[in-house]
Order: sequence, then structure tokens, then C-alpha cells
Amino acid sequence: MDYLLDGVTMSEILKLKSPADFIGKQGPGVISFGSGQPDLPPPKEAFEGIDLKRDLRYGLIQGELKLREALTYEYPGSTAENFVITNGASEALDLIFRSWGKGQKVLLPRPYYYSYLPIIEMAGMVPVFTDLVEGRIDLGDFHKKIKGCKAVLINSPSNPTGCVEAIETLKEIQKVTQQLGVYVVSDEVYKDLIYERENYHIEGNHVITINSFSKTYCMCGLRVGYLWSADKKIVEDVCEIKTHSSMNTNLIGQDMALAAMKTPREYIQKEQQIWRQRRDLIFKGLTDLGFDLWKPEGAFYVLPKCKNAREFLTVLYQDYKVITYLGEWFGAPDRIRLSYALDIKQIEEGLSRIKDAMKRVKVL
Ligand SMILES: Cc1ncc(COP(=O)(O)O)c(C=O)c1O
Repeated sequence: MDYLLDGVTMSEILKLKSPADFIGKQGPGVISFGSGQPDLPPPKEAFEGIDLKRDLRYGLIQGELKLREALTYEYPGSTAENFVITNGASEALDLIFRSWGKGQKVLLPRPYYYSYLPIIEMAGMVPVFTDLVEGRIDLGDFHKKIKGCKAVLINSPSNPTGCVEAIETLKEIQKVTQQLGVYVVSDEVYKDLIYERENYHIEGNHVITINSFSKTYCMCGLRVGYLWSADKKIVEDVCEIKTHSSMNTNLIGQDMALAAMKTPREYIQKEQQIWRQRRDLIFKGLTDLGFDLWKPEGAFYVLPKCKNAREFLTVLYQDYKVITYLGEWFGAPDRIRLSYALDIKQIEEGLSRIKDAMKRVKVL
């Protein structure tokens, strides 16, 4: 059989350079540890107050004022002028790097979220890598490589490592970049999905914060995110590109995002309990199978070491209907990445299929 998911054949998977062919795909009996899409329901509040008639017009490029005003409560000292509402965090990332233009360097901790590298390269910028040590930023290497960079891209909690950077590290990055005049792009899409440690919100005029409604509110397909900056010029430059590319972010989505922000905090706390339970299950399951992996402190990913990763991924997919992602797509060729945005039963079934597949491929 060469066909499991609509449009993804066995021969194609051997050539895959990124997860593009898996995103949004489903199939009978398939267990997908692939996509980083929360399977939990969005808050019921999100469905209140949508005005379809109003929402079918063009909107402000910068984003609806009410939503931007609501966001100011999460960013003390800000005004609505500091925000641009975007088509998910993805568009915010794309716009900020394109606004800086060609030839400039961006420091990128590796392993990284698989879209970072293409986004940086499509903007004509040049990636400089700093390799994580045990899933964390190595400040010694960071200090050596940050000089001469236009920006550094930080993602804590991280996809794909699940690690949360130490507060002292984030403060040091904040300080050094400020002194050197380097921008920090802080991708905080997982800031609410944190179970173990305190997070730290990097601040300053040189910081561009990226966030989204995809993960916290389980509304990935809605495509609503945003960019925050204290620098008026950055906001203007980003809006200028957006005017000529996607124009406004969809208004129904913005209404739903605004409504979702009224959700009581317990919604997020309940989510965290569910993620923690799943995290414990997959971490123990994979550790018991002999995999070497970091215990996630946030987000919903694990990145175990895996020999013969491409072969294992292929066997898992072809013969066991289990989707995993190649570490290679995240700059970690000796690993595979699993998302545990699945219910407990599916995680258990997936682990049992992984155990069977391990008899066929030498992964440890
Ligand atoms: C680290 C990170 N940043 C950005 C995104 C994109 O998020 P959005 O759906 O808001 O575009 C993802 C999605 O998985 C992600 O993991």
C-alpha cells in the first residue's frame, strides 16, 4: 500500500523536506503525533458576539481597535498603537523579518521551530546558529555569536524541545541585546502552556513580541495572532508590507479572539492540567521504551534521540499509521519530534505501535 493520507504517498515521504504535506491531513486509523494543533475545544466565549454582516467588509490593516485595546491589558504601559493583528504568529514572524531586508544576520537557537529557517531565508536574511545544550541556550556561545546580528529569535517555551529557558538567561539576553542594539524577536505562542517553571517576558524597546490565539485558545485554523513593538517605525513598516500582501486579518477571527479573551483564567488552568497529564504519559512511555529525551516543561512536544530517524518515520507511517516528524526539519537530525496534542487513549495506542515498530528499525 502506498497511500495513507490524502495526497501523501510513501515515495513522497522519503523525500519530504518539511511537514507541509502532513499539515491539516487526517486519515482512518491514523495516529498523528505530527501537528502542533491542540485537540481541546476553544472556550465557549469565543462564539459569542460575532456580527457576520459587519465582519464581511475590509478591516483596518493594523487590526481591529477593540482587540488591540484588549491586548494592552496584557502588556502594561502599552497602547493599541503598539500592536499589529496578523494571520497567526506565522504572518507576524514573516512580516518582521521581511521588514528588515536582505543580508543581515539573525541568531537562531537550534533546534528551532521548522518555519523559522525558511522565514528568515525567504526574507533574504542570514541565519547564524547557536546550538542548545541540553535543550537550553548556551550563554557562552550566545555572547560570541550575537555581535553583528540584527536580531535573535527566542522561543520559550519551545517547539520542538518543550524546554523553558531560565529566567536569568532571558534577562541576560534582554540586557546584552539592549546594550548592543540587537532586536529580540520573542515568539511566545506557548507562554500559557507551561507546567513546571516560571516564565519571563522579555521586555524593552528592542523587543518584538509575537503571540497568537492558536495554542492558548485552541483556535489554530482561525489564523489570528499579533505582533507587539514599542517602536512606532517597526509597526509602520510591518503594516506597510501587510497592506500589499494579506491586507487585514480576517474580522470574524478577530471578533472571536476578542471574545475568547473574556474567558475566565480557569480555562487555561484546566488546559494546563490536561497537557501535564499527557506530558507525563508520553514522557514515561517513551522513557520506558528506552528513548533519551528532555522532559517538557511547557508547550506540547517531545524530541527524543532516534537513530535511523528517516527509516523509522517511514516504517511508522507506512506500516503502523503513525505520523511523527523528522528532527531534521527542526535542525536536529538525530531526533524525531512528537506532538502530544492527542487524547490519552490515542497516545497509549500510538506508544504501543511505536513499541512494535521498534522491533523493525534500530532506533536506540
Ligand atoms: C513556535 C511556534 N511559533 C509559531 C507558530 C505558528 O503559530 P500560528 O498558528 O499562530 O501561526 C507555531 C505553530 O506550531 C509554533 O510552534
